[in-house]
Amino acid sequence: MDAHAVTGLPAEPDALLHAVLRANDGTDNARLREVMGSLLRHLHAFAREVGLNYRELEQGLDFLVRIGQATGPKKHEGILLADILGLATLVCLMDARDSLAEGGTEPALIGPFWRDQQPLRANGSRIACANTPGAPLRVNGRVLSLDGRPLAGARVETWQASPKGLYENQDPEQPQMNLRGRFETDADGRFWFDSVRPAGYPVPIDGPCGELLAAQGRHPMRPAHLHFLVVAVGHKVLATQFFDAEDPHAMDDVVFGAVGSLLRRFEPDGEGGFRLDVELRLEPGETRVPHCPLP
Ligand code: BEZ
Ligand code: FE
Repeated sequence: MDAHAVTGLPAEPDALLHAVLRANDGTDNARLREVMGSLLRHLHAFAREVGLNYRELEQGLDFLVRIGQATGPKKHEGILLADILGLATLVCLMDARDSLAEGGTEPALIGPFWRDQQPLRANGSRIACANTPGAPLRVNGRVLSLDGRPLAGARVETWQASPKGLYENQDPEQPQMNLRGRFETDADGRFWFDSVRPAGYPVPIDGPCGELLAAQGRHPMRPAHLHFLVVAVGHKVLATQFFDAEDPHAMDDVVFGAVGSLLRRFEPDGEGGFRLDVELRLEPGETRVPHCPLP
């Protein structure tokens, strides 16, 4: 050893992790301390398990930088990353654990395409503009509390892709806010509207998430679905989706959202159209409306 060297931390991974965890111990916020402590332990274990080298660390950091650079008012690549990793679905399922144990509706991730200020529409109105192609679809919904009590005056947000598989904000051929709406439930907890049967679609693959999917040899498809987000006084907000059980990707959603009873048959109405009846059961609790990803 160099005669002038002073001994620092032991140059080995366990001592390093110990020092990093000690540095976290002063975090005032108890939850942040817990989350960071666990993250640090798993991050170090992960790097050691795969024998991460410096070139790979640079590649990973560059990937995260590009996730940020691909995010803006029109696109949230960060949400997409959490979605394709299965993290968003995992968090939704954990948040809903108590509700699910008591018969609450399964949740599904919000995704990047919910828009702020979706237009308030009257029950029975049509959310598809006149020249939207596709088979007619009537949606009849009912919002209930876990004990079966109908929830009047609940706010129900819905959004869906067109039969071409594009959301209105991705498609210059659709008018603003096409296939989107906000409804209020009647005294019996009901809402209803007319639309068109949606198609499945690929998640955006023009950014780093697309590169990751390609590198993993994964397809980018989501099965056809309608999104719902329900806000009712005294209840936890429910975000979910109902999926077309006949879609070829019904069992193979790229973001792992098509869980449990959320797969549905769109019933033929005998006149070339379809109907979808849905019941949305919400758990009593604090009403916290999630952050809306798109203006
Ligand atoms: C969506 O359902 O709108 C969606 C979810 C995850 C990624 C992309 C889109
Ligand atoms: Fe969607």
